[in-house]
Amino acid sequence: MITASDTLTRLYRGLAAVEPTPEDVGLGDAFLDMVIVRPIVAGDALDALEGDLRGAAPRFADLGPDEIRVVAAAAARHLAVLADQDGVWLAPFARAPYCHIATGARLGELSHEYRRSPGQEGRFKRMADGLLNVLGQPSGDIGSKAYVQALRLGEAAYVLPDMLLTLSVSPNRYVPELLAAVEPTLTGALFEMPDWVAECVRSAAAGSPGVEWPTLSWKGTEDVTGHVDAALRQFTELGLAPHGAERFAAFGQLLRDAIRLHRAELERSCLNALRTPVLGMINLVERKTPSARRAHGTAVLDGRLLDDLFAASPEKSRDVVEALGKSRWIEPGAPDRSLFVTSLTRIPGPMGKIFSAEDTSIIRRWITWLAEPMQVAPIGAAPVTVPDLGAQPDEPAPSTFTGPQTRELFYDLVAGRERARSIRRAAAFVEYWLDAAQVIEKPVFSWELPERYVADEFPEWMHKTYQDMASAPVSPVADDGKSHRDRSFHGAADNLVDGAWLQGLTRRVVLSEAEQLLYDIYWDEIGNGKPGHSHGVMYEDLVTGLGYQLPKFWTRAFIDEVPFLDEGFLAPVFRLAIADFPVSRFPEIVGVNMVCEFHGLGTAGISKADGLTDLGFDTSFTRLHIADDNIEMGHSARSRDAVVFLMAQAARLGVTDEVWERVRRGATAMRMAYVVLMQGRLGIAPTQVPAHLLNASGR
Ligand SMILES: [Fe+2]
Ligand SMILES: [Fe+2]
Repeated sequence: MITASDTLTRLYRGLAAVEPTPEDVGLGDAFLDMVIVRPIVAGDALDALEGDLRGAAPRFADLGPDEIRVVAAAAARHLAVLADQDGVWLAPFARAPYCHIATGARLGELSHEYRRSPGQEGRFKRMADGLLNVLGQPSGDIGSKAYVQALRLGEAAYVLPDMLLTLSVSPNRYVPELLAAVEPTLTGALFEMPDWVAECVRSAAAGSPGVEWPTLSWKGTEDVTGHVDAALRQFTELGLAPHGAERFAAFGQLLRDAIRLHRAELERSCLNALRTPVLGMINLVERKTPSARRAHGTAVLDGRLLDDLFAASPEKSRDVVEALGKSRWIEPGAPDRSLFVTSLTRIPGPMGKIFSAEDTSIIRRWITWLAEPMQVAPIGAAPVTVPDLGAQPDEPAPSTFTGPQTRELFYDLVAGRERARSIRRAAAFVEYWLDAAQVIEKPVFSWELPERYVADEFPEWMHKTYQDMASAPVSPVADDGKSHRDRSFHGAADNLVDGAWLQGLTRRVVLSEAEQLLYDIYWDEIGNGKPGHSHGVMYEDLVTGLGYQLPKFWTRAFIDEVPFLDEGFLAPVFRLAIADFPVSRFPEIVGVNMVCEFHGLGTAGISKADGLTDLGFDTSFTRLHIADDNIEMGHSARSRDAVVFLMAQAARLGVTDEVWERVRRGATAMRMAYVVLMQGRLGIAPTQVPAHLLNASGR
């Protein structure tokens, strides 16, 4: 064990990514495993810190505008590390297997309502962003080095976010723990602050156009506790949450302590910002040093060239502050009469637009303090014991995949408890299959994406293709439904995780236009949060109706004991695996999505369904898709628009051909996964190939 360095800050940076690396996921697991065994802050240290804070808290009514601003800025930085990722840790409930389980689907809907209901998307993030923007914005992308540096938080501030983010990336390992995080999130407990700090934040927000303070106590209309208890029971019964009750209780306590620690750290920062104006000023000089170096020409402070003073900063930043304090620019005790404020930093002055609102308040409070420079010690941080997180070595991921390896990966991706390993293998599988699928001989498809993307022609191409599909020759069901039965059985793994290719989007806090369209499709696929309405669950009814009693798809028995063909796992594993890379594989996912949504439409699909109905088969799954995937307003229309948005962005970046090639490769890989199963050992011929395509290929 080592004491705080920047381990937890680095972990936050890794886990805050939409696509965390396997290494970071492994580090998160190591971190949480250790925290569960040995809490990161001793209980009495936290009690002591809270006691110090209680004794030192001021009354809001006693604070002036500058004080309110520095407090609000300090608080906003602490809120930001939670707000930027708000609710991401609840995303697993909208993923397989949890969205298939009635109680999990319910939690999925509650978290969807919390994160994505109209006007609510990223609400805490917008608030924290807005506040920081007004008071002094951290630069850089969330999780980037520049960003966390600008937040200026100690290690203790990352304990809670790191715990929650680990739950989000490794849900299968921490199911009871994940359940324990639901209520504190949905009830707003994570964002509660001491009253005097909350008043400062609200006051700063009220004075800042465009910054809206969200309702803190979101409780929905639901009994959250009841839903969580029900899910804990059901998940435990289903074998997904071993020792569920004990682990749930223990982690709930741990989480409450972590929330206390987060709140105490936030209050400590706010108090120290008030207690030690000179330290705030020294910190300000340190922050500005990189841009202040060699920027002052012949300007002199206290007999020394300013450029020389800054050359020795940040090590000697205190010297800069002292020299400034003695200079003619400052009148101790009177910020409004100090030239530094009245002429240098005012806009337009030589140093106008260099300081944020928070910075200006820090300067003004320091000048006031100089009249009676009392030294008050800052309140110290609670001692945080940070585990030494060594990267976990792992066997190299295979570069080709045999049938049994593919089956195994299916299990890993839906229920495996080693997420780091699964992600590494998922990446390898995607790469393998994207390449392998291109070199297998292709049959004639009912449609192929055009070779080149032309923005003006694409919607028309979709329309024309649909018409061809609608008028394709219909062959009657000739085999008493044998191929339907075979296809339904061996395609079970695939259809049970219907929608899975898009599930990685649930990790996004704010969605782009193309992502939003795909997310809407995903939400339909998993039944709009209604238990039993997910396409996967409806598929279970279909196979049961055919007389098969399958074990649940997330159990070992599903891959070990059912006589599925190995090839039946290619498509679902490709879908699940590519979903883990919603950023780096986004163009391929858009191509996969086109294939999944834009097929089986038109008269051929309907006639086939009618033929099967006549033979006594339940065709509601097929009919549901003919309806949901329609090209007017349904999934095919959204898929087309997602292509249009993606390609417009590619055009702006000048990479149209490269991105289109990736969309096509994704589509081909998805297609060929089906071809290998259907037209391989099952020997099922494609049912729906427009006549002109058959003629063109001379068949
Ligand atoms: Fe579907
Ligand atoms: Fe669909």
